[in-house]
Amino acid sequence: MSAPSPSTPSSLFASVVAELRAAGCVFAEDEAQLILATARTHAEVTAMTGRRAAGLPLEHVLGWAAFAGLRVTVDPGVFVPRRRSEFLVGQAVALARPPLTTPLVVADLCCGTGAIGAAVTARLTGALPGPHDPRTGPVPVELHAADVDPAAVRCARRTIAPFGGQAHQGDLYAALPSRLRGRIGLLVASAPYVPTGDIRLLPAEARDHEPRISLDGGADGLDVVRRVAAGAPGWLAPGAHLLLETSPLQAEALARDLTGAGLPARAVTDPGLDAATVIATVTATGTATGTGTAPHEPPRRR
Ligand SMILES: C[S@@+](CC[C@H](N)C(=O)[O-])C[C@H]1O[C@@H](n2cnc3c(N)ncnc32)[C@H](O)[C@@H]1O
Repeated sequence: MSAPSPSTPSSLFASVVAELRAAGCVFAEDEAQLILATARTHAEVTAMTGRRAAGLPLEHVLGWAAFAGLRVTVDPGVFVPRRRSEFLVGQAVALARPPLTTPLVVADLCCGTGAIGAAVTARLTGALPGPHDPRTGPVPVELHAADVDPAAVRCARRTIAPFGGQAHQGDLYAALPSRLRGRIGLLVASAPYVPTGDIRLLPAEARDHEPRISLDGGADGLDVVRRVAAGAPGWLAPGAHLLLETSPLQAEALARDLTGAGLPARAVTDPGLDAATVIATVTATGTATGTGTAPHEPPRRR
């Protein structure tokens, strides 16, 4: 069990735990500790505990989420970044290589809070410790994040500001400055991928408190993800990587679809996190490849 901080009266901790437990919170002690550490006044403790007991996601109550070593702002009504997306972050960081003379342009489409782009950038630039390729060291990054939802963009703007990132609002690529065409070296997207018919099966916290547009991926869940993939070739630089989050159930089929559409792709999964990422890589000569060959190999002579 987590202990309250030494300055918190144990009676307050106990009453928060009791209220959360009565409301059915399984991790009542941990959540109470987070509420007590986040609230600035007794009145805030009471209000936050009440909101959590009423069923709001903990991250909406706290106003932040822990993600890949960062504390990310999460406003009410914005999708809460999921732990499984840390898998995509790790894959992206492992693949990224700096261009010769300019910063690596990283774009996070369907960015929500901006957590993924921020975490990738934090690691690549060395702002957060993480696995660096000893051959490259820290990589300078120009970060762009975009979302159709203005509330998400407001959140993302705050999340990525410390990394010099810019947040844009609009439908997928329409949000991005056109000067990024053909220049994006790393394109990451965790777009909505829940099939419409499965939304009713989601936990109430997601169903009732996250916007439908952040969840609903259409009949098979892949409508938006496919649009991201279809638009990518016009925006990716030679040697770029496209990483798309899906569910493990969708990943192989999506990789096949992309390959069939001329963007060869491969699926990687982490069963422990229930995570899947579909990765396509453009060769240094501008042809996509997802065959698993080291994507940063120098181009072969023809
Ligand atoms: C599943 S949430 C993921 C958010 C964020 N990538 C993350 O992992 O925390 C999907 C996001 O896609 C955004 N979105 C949905 N359709 C979009 C579109 N056509 N253009 C841009 N963003 C879109 C939603 O507003 C939502 O923030």
